[in-house]
Amino acid sequence: MGNLKSVALPLLLSFPLLLLPFAESIYFTNYHIHVRNDLPLLNSPPNQPNLLLHCKSKNKDIGDRPMAKGQDYTWDTKINFFRTTLFFCNARWVGHKSRSFDAFDAIRDEERCLEYHTSCMWSVRSDGIYFSFNNETWYNDYPW
Ligand SMILES: *[C@@H]1O[C@H](CO)[C@@H](O)[C@H](O)[C@H]1NC(C)=O
Repeated sequence: MGNLKSVALPLLLSFPLLLLPFAESIYFTNYHIHVRNDLPLLNSPPNQPNLLLHCKSKNKDIGDRPMAKGQDYTWDTKINFFRTTLFFCNARWVGHKSRSFDAFDAIRDEERCLEYHTSCMWSVRSDGIYFSFNNETWYNDYPW
């Protein structure tokens, strides 16, 4: 018993120290997800939404968001303990195209979305859904 105590006590005391690296980690970071409607107007009037965005995670359904040209829809998320946080969206360019994309995937995005105001930036365009980690360079990650 004495032996067990002499092992268990130091272990128990060092437990908070083992957790220290987590204290400044991604688990406390609040990520901002931006989705902007950069679709061309074509023949639709400027204020009429031409994009329907529907985003959700396992626990949270943001609902249907009708978006007019130039609108930016934003929400926040933290990363869960198991780093499985995932927000997926369906984007429907009314009368044209529709597709799904992952707006936030913890493992994929935890680093790249730290670059610019802890934001993941998405831009819905006529040829696809673009990602940017710096709000300057855009990549067509989900062509449609
Ligand atoms: C990205 O840049 C544009 C200007 O090019 C600006 O209007 C917009 O607010 C920026 N987005 C964020 C999330 O900072």
